[in-house]
Amino acid sequence: MMQYGRILVIGNLLATFAYAAVVPLSNSSVQNNLIDETKSHWWQTASFYQIYPRSFKDSSGDGVGDLRGIAEKLPYLKEIGITATWLSPIFASPMADFGYDISNFYEIDPMFGTMEDFEALIKKANEVGVKIILDFVPNHSSDECEWFQKSVDRDPVFENFYVWHPGKIVNGTRKPPTNWVSIFRGSAWKWNEKRQEYYLHQFVDKQPDFNYRNPTVRHYMNEILRFWLKKGVAGFRCDAVPNVFEVAPDAEGNYPDEPVNEGATDPDDHGYTKHIYTSDQPETINLVYEWRKVLDDFTAENGGDDKILMIETWSEIDIVMQYYGNETAEGAQMPFNFQMISRLNSNSNAYYYAETINLWMDKMPKGRTANWVLGNHDKNRVGTRLGAERIDLLNMLLLTLPGCSVTYQGEEIGMTDVWISWNDTVDPQACNADESVYLEKSRDPCRSPFQWSDEKNAGFTTGSKTWLPISDLYRDVNVKKERGVQLSHLNVYKKMQALRHDKTIKNGDSEVKPINENVLAIKRSLANYPTYVILLNINKTVETLDLHAVFNNLSTEMEYVIVTAKSIRRVGDRAYADQIILLPNEAVVLRTVK
Ligand code: GLC
Repeated sequence: MMQYGRILVIGNLLATFAYAAVVPLSNSSVQNNLIDETKSHWWQTASFYQIYPRSFKDSSGDGVGDLRGIAEKLPYLKEIGITATWLSPIFASPMADFGYDISNFYEIDPMFGTMEDFEALIKKANEVGVKIILDFVPNHSSDECEWFQKSVDRDPVFENFYVWHPGKIVNGTRKPPTNWVSIFRGSAWKWNEKRQEYYLHQFVDKQPDFNYRNPTVRHYMNEILRFWLKKGVAGFRCDAVPNVFEVAPDAEGNYPDEPVNEGATDPDDHGYTKHIYTSDQPETINLVYEWRKVLDDFTAENGGDDKILMIETWSEIDIVMQYYGNETAEGAQMPFNFQMISRLNSNSNAYYYAETINLWMDKMPKGRTANWVLGNHDKNRVGTRLGAERIDLLNMLLLTLPGCSVTYQGEEIGMTDVWISWNDTVDPQACNADESVYLEKSRDPCRSPFQWSDEKNAGFTTGSKTWLPISDLYRDVNVKKERGVQLSHLNVYKKMQALRHDKTIKNGDSEVKPINENVLAIKRSLANYPTYVILLNINKTVETLDLHAVFNNLSTEMEYVIVTAKSIRRVGDRAYADQIILLPNEAVVLRTVK
């Protein structure tokens, strides 16, 4: 899930260099992205925004964000061009995993507000014109959920609602049924004294896994979807989807061990085994198709805009693509494209960026819509991971590729990770590690409170404390200040969002090419409309470029449409396509002049 940290970085480094050595310059294909506007759907060109409610805006003064805070800031989302926002969980929860451990799927946690607050949020969102998407957590509940308590008590309806097993006796001692390891470290099985059985938890032990081989569970989950659809949500981000099914038990009710990875030494580390029985079971894909049908049936009965599914999966790309659907069934409109998160690092060159982007476009089944994601509440922030000097460049990339964009809150103003001491660490994934490695695991640094202004606590709360520390940089990096600075991250982001309404950027073909190892170029074109070329200088070199050597059918004269603070050029300046100069880390949008 989110625990791969170091291995990935080294893997990416090797891959980056290996790729640079072997791949020819001309690697790119023209992607026909033409969207027939008469048949297009709202989500196909939408700009999505992820809100982590605990850290967005606190209206009550308790130092934790809430629904009224979100409602108050909806006009801000409109200001920055957002179509729809997905909210990390807001449901009743003991907060062992900050809301991803739900004790009642039908209630709002009092920390976030009341059901009336939620209804008011939907009402205001409709007025403002921003859609609300909820986080659906199908893999597990909290152990404090009534369903789990009833399962412990073997209530007939709930007895097999979770994955239970008596364990095995080895040399007279009772042991967990298998060697399965939790994503958050340690055995994935926990003994329950009352029921005298182990239950499975792929995340923390307070998150028991549902048993998806029980049709009643699937029915309950569909009911949850319908309940929130009736409240007026536009869809769901579905959490930890590859983990929902485990392999079916054998005739005796036993599960097999997972094979141990070569060289693995720590049996408590999730990387110890190959997760062939706890992840990506083939039934999962059809389950998503079933959820899609629930959404489509609801819309068919009740009218209104399409409802969408966003799927959280870090699986192999060929599996991810199956979530889109097939010839006979519709799947999720947006299986999240995490390629840019999992493959890119601060050493990646333009060839590797291009390969990463084109991989998705090449693998995507015909007729589906691409989506682009650079960050979320589980990953280091973009500026920390890929370089603070590349923040505008990366936002520009995200917003000019064809299809949907997804921005994690704060990336538009260039927030970076906050260092959090071991003592202040609260993320269970980090707390389950030890002090020497917690920083590699911790998701707290990217979850610090949103920086609204240079006032006390960055304008996030009127209270005196915040649940995680505020960034030291908040006096410079905040919405209020950036609104007033012409080429701030925020203003560049807003200009890019405005450009997404342009016909070519919205509906045109795309071509993503590395010009050399430092410069990535994206061409967007549409018959009878101006062509755009977006140039990103990933590195600190000064580049002189001849765009005719890279792209066909480009007129000679070009105009600067968007520049950043790293440019000396201004909007409206003209330049010849065969003599474009890019400064270190400069990113620009150019348009052909007739
Ligand atoms: C997903 C969420 C993560 C959570 C986990 C368990 O990966 O994004 O934050 O901890 O699922 O629900």
